[in-house]
Amino acid sequence: MARIFSGVQPTGDLHLGNYLGAIRNWVRLQDDYECLFCIVDLHAITVWQDPKELTANTRSVAAALLAAGVDAKRHILFNQSQVPGHAELAWIFNCVARLGWLNRMTQFKEKAGKNRENASVGLYAYPNLMAADILLYKATHVPVGDDQKQHLELARDIAQKFNNDFGVDFFPMIEPLIFGAGTRVMSLRDGKAKMSKSEPSEMSRINFTDDADAIARKIQKAKTDPHPLPAAPAEFKDRPEAANLMGIYAALADADIGAVCQRFGGKQFSAFKKELAELAIAKLTPIRDEMVRLMADPAHVDGVLAAGTKRARAIAEPILAEVHDIVGLLRVCAPRKC
Ligand code: TYM
Repeated sequence: MARIFSGVQPTGDLHLGNYLGAIRNWVRLQDDYECLFCIVDLHAITVWQDPKELTANTRSVAAALLAAGVDAKRHILFNQSQVPGHAELAWIFNCVARLGWLNRMTQFKEKAGKNRENASVGLYAYPNLMAADILLYKATHVPVGDDQKQHLELARDIAQKFNNDFGVDFFPMIEPLIFGAGTRVMSLRDGKAKMSKSEPSEMSRINFTDDADAIARKIQKAKTDPHPLPAAPAEFKDRPEAANLMGIYAALADADIGAVCQRFGGKQFSAFKKELAELAIAKLTPIRDEMVRLMADPAHVDGVLAAGTKRARAIAEPILAEVHDIVGLLRVCAPRKC
């Protein structure tokens, strides 16, 4: 069975973009792949995190993933920092990846902003850690949202260069799995900006922790334009908010965007928003309720992560030992138990 690896940062509440772009697809792929799902706490600290909040967010993201349908009995759910091989392979990849490759990463430019000199080295080398996450398990398939595409291309380049540099056929080629109607969910306040945890306005996103009232309020206040809804996707040009809201509807309803346009075309936003809110509440509040239930028992959540960690280490250790041999790192003790 082909192996999947994917990750999410514990930098705050998960939101609708995470769900439609990635997590829902993770859940759907569980029957056809062997899956490792990772809460990437080492990625999170590439920008400053309050330590207490980081710990709490790691647990609540684990609860959110379980509530959304990640099956931690059949598959592996764990937090990145508990498997030291991630950081170790990332160092080796720091020595494989080229500066020029990292200089092209658009997400670094966006996140570092104007004050590039003040960004952490970790933020710059972030994609190398991401490549290590995947290749530490020789995973071949990576379900993500559209914004991770460039990072996955870099991971492929790293795998290829490692194989070439050492004359081996060791790391597999990575296939991004970017599919479904929600690969790029935009902010509710600005149809041109990605829905994101780092956007200060809570009104810009629907969180997993939002109750029915909050979801309804955010959708009701979502930015629109003054025209009736488009009757076909071709009319989305220059109408980013209509495209986004109708795209969210299509993704939540598992419907074709053309069919959604046909159904709501010519209607006012107000009527559509009511239906969108009802749909979002029906799909998301059961996840929220389960998440609240799981959060009441943090020891259970920690136990799930501990079990996942053990299983992840067992896969990673022999692969990392082979990497050491390939690179020529002298082994003077028995292979370390991570
Ligand atoms: P992160 O935590 O930003 O997002 C987790 C997943 O959610 C997707 N996503 C979105 N999809 C659609 N619309 C949006 N507005 C939206 N916002 C986020 C992301 O594409 C992602 O799939 N670097 C990664 C985490 C990571 C990783 C990995 C992923 C670390 N190592 C290895 C795959 C494989 C990140 O920051 O995701």
